[in-house]
Amino acid sequence: MCMYVCIYKLAINMKTLYTGIGHSNSSSNSSNKMALGKSIKMYLTIFIATTCIYMVLYQYHMSRQPLASNDVVKPPLYIITPTYRRPEQLAELTRLGYTLKHVVNLLWLVIEDANKTNPLVAHTLDRIGVPYEYLVAPMPEEYKATKRAKPRGVSNRNRGLDYLRANASEGVLYFADDDNTYDISIFEQMRYIQKVGMWPVGLVTKTGVSSPIIRNGKLDGYYDGWIGGRKYPVDMAGFAVSVKFLHERPHAKMPFKPGYEEDGFLRSLGPLANAEIELLADQCRDILTWHTQTKKNPPASPVNFTRYGQTNLEFIEKLLVRP
Ligand code: UGA
Ligand code: MN
Repeated sequence: MCMYVCIYKLAINMKTLYTGIGHSNSSSNSSNKMALGKSIKMYLTIFIATTCIYMVLYQYHMSRQPLASNDVVKPPLYIITPTYRRPEQLAELTRLGYTLKHVVNLLWLVIEDANKTNPLVAHTLDRIGVPYEYLVAPMPEEYKATKRAKPRGVSNRNRGLDYLRANASEGVLYFADDDNTYDISIFEQMRYIQKVGMWPVGLVTKTGVSSPIIRNGKLDGYYDGWIGGRKYPVDMAGFAVSVKFLHERPHAKMPFKPGYEEDGFLRSLGPLANAEIELLADQCRDILTWHTQTKKNPPASPVNFTRYGQTNLEFIEKLLVRP
């Protein structure tokens, strides 16, 4: 408003001066010109000063505005993904990564069962563009060597827990295997878990699903194809834990016990009353995560460079993950 008044005054002033010029002699002509120059300078200064004040007031006004709902900072999510070297590895991480890309305020902890990181994995993670930490945690030799079932992804997940104990204070952690399938709405629901949250998982054993049983609005046992004496017969994809609660249980960890990883970890979080377990996915009436499995592919055969030297295959060869 003030700006417009100034411009208006300047216009009037200029009009007066120019009208004056027409009726005057040469000496008053030059003094008129000087007056005009002075006026322009003065009004320009007023104009710039007003603009600056206006900008400062606008900034102040904006800083006092409550954040729009989209800008409200949501509790962080820590997604712990065990992974290991195999032909499917980059495809699995790519698919999961682009799912996670739809989720805000998330840190993806990609932890490989290996002694050193693989630049191909790092390159894939960079390309996806989800904030991540890429760490390694090899399976102990005694388990690697066994002919029996191996505790897959356990050292990786325990490494993820150590990372959170050292680096996180709030939010929620979730173990997302690299080969499973996730509806992104489950991530928005799990953010607000106070202690532990659970929900159904599709495609688990021949029963087809693993789920908490809810009777009269309360947790009343578990539906799963294999109970195996477990207190918590749930799938890895079917629960999440608050970081604050993890801090309250400094000794909680996952055991190297095939089939009992979930049960062992959840027990180690005790004491935990059933009533404290939050039931997500519409009170466990919906399926938002699936325990999918990718067909195993044979390792790629070596490219014959006598035949394909000096072609694009020289580049592609470097992108293949061989066991
Ligand atoms: C099921 C469970 O969902 C797993 O959480 C559990 O660790 C596993 O069984 C088990 O009891 O051994 P499943 O689909 O059968 O999972 O196993 P994978 O998908 O082969 O492995 C689970 C996770 O561990 C994956 O993210 C995978 O990348 C990783 N993994 C697997 C390793 O880090 N190292 C391995 O040698 C194998
Ligand atoms: Mn799997």
